[in-house]
Amino acid sequence: MKTTISQVHKYVDQEVTIGAWIANKRSSGKIAFLQLRDGTGFIQGVVVKAEVPEEIFQGAKSVTQESSVYVTGKIQKDERSPFGFEMLVTGLEVIHQAVDYPITPKEHGTEFLMDNRHLWLRSRRQHAVMKIRNEIIRATYEFFNEQGFSKVDPPILTGSAPEGTSELFATKYFDEDAYLSQSGQLYMEAAAMALGKVFSFGPTFRAEKSKTRRHLIEFWMIEPEMAFCEFDDNLKVQEEYVAHIVQSVLKNCSIELKTLGRDTEKLEKITAPFPRITYDEAIKFLQEKGFDDIQWGDDFGAPHETAIAESYDKPVFITHYPTSLKPFYMQPDPSREDVVLCADLIAPEGYGEIIGGSERIHDYDLLKQRLDEHKLDMDAYKWYLELRQYGSVPHSGFGLGLERTVAWISGVEHVRETIPFPRLLNRLYP
Ligand code: 4AD
Ligand code: MG
Repeated sequence: MKTTISQVHKYVDQEVTIGAWIANKRSSGKIAFLQLRDGTGFIQGVVVKAEVPEEIFQGAKSVTQESSVYVTGKIQKDERSPFGFEMLVTGLEVIHQAVDYPITPKEHGTEFLMDNRHLWLRSRRQHAVMKIRNEIIRATYEFFNEQGFSKVDPPILTGSAPEGTSELFATKYFDEDAYLSQSGQLYMEAAAMALGKVFSFGPTFRAEKSKTRRHLIEFWMIEPEMAFCEFDDNLKVQEEYVAHIVQSVLKNCSIELKTLGRDTEKLEKITAPFPRITYDEAIKFLQEKGFDDIQWGDDFGAPHETAIAESYDKPVFITHYPTSLKPFYMQPDPSREDVVLCADLIAPEGYGEIIGGSERIHDYDLLKQRLDEHKLDMDAYKWYLELRQYGSVPHSGFGLGLERTVAWISGVEHVRETIPFPRLLNRLYP
């Protein structure tokens, strides 16, 4: 019977065949232990010299790390294995004998591992992070589908820049100038006026010269947008969504969280609602904490965000930022012209901002004025402004950065490990 490692629990005391790679191996004169992986999981294969034909035992002794094999054997319960099973090997067919594998069980430097990212992905740790990323994506579709959202795909080649012009990747679109999308938001606003509640999931690009553990040049964003939705309703969707993905990972990725040594007690606390503080309160809090340099009107850096997050065991919303710090499209607070109806969601444990969102300006004249103030090209934004001429409604949305969210939930220090092939300031290979 041919099966996969994830399915072996169905075949206890039966003989099965699995297509696998040799993740690691150790052997003595009488016994060989093969650490097998097939993408669905990991299992140990035990080859006992006295119980198999000599050529099978010799094959197990000489097979190299990362060789591909068909391995046959009897599945047995094994309490010591994190997966609960092992295989008593009876047959081994080497499909391809791998040449010397560069990534050995010894410690390697980050740059070396990044140069070998195409191979590093096979490791147990990277496998676990990719599985958690996949579960977050699955739970995202589940959440928004259950809540009546439609998935809409905004373009990646665009003629406008929602988040400011300094971080754009410019390219040519035949004779025109074009940019790689920094955010699908403006298109999602148009889609919300057609479909009500929408979400997107796609790659976004920022030519940021930042070299931090939270910044990628190419990252994936989930961007919901809702018609007839005001500021408070927007925050409720965000906290329920984030709680849902955390609880889904806890439920469906327990082996992966264990592999990563993640403290799951911290994740169990992530339930809605989340605390909210205003930008004003955050500034006051930081000044009282001894951050003397920060003043009203300044943006927060990583140390500020971390200091604020440390006061809570859940993600915290920082709301009502100064208008001057935020993009042109945010709705001003009706009771105060100097702040906007926005919120950033800061993850616990120092992982920083995972969501940026706001209510959007729905008044035609005000939006036109803001576009002028930001010196944006009216021709490029004509269609966006027009949305305010045909049944304009209050609407809100947000963008969740997938990689920062994966980093937080996985407990992985740097976002470079949360995307299969990271694009970093100095890295386009592999
Ligand atoms: O706060 P940002 O810039 O918001 C927007 O782009 C809005 N237009 C979204 C919307 O309302 N539809 O980005 C949203 C999130 C951030 O909170 C962060 O998690 C992530 O995207 N992000 C990055 N992740 C990795 N590397 C970068 N360089 C990132 N820049 C933003
Ligand atoms: Mg932001």
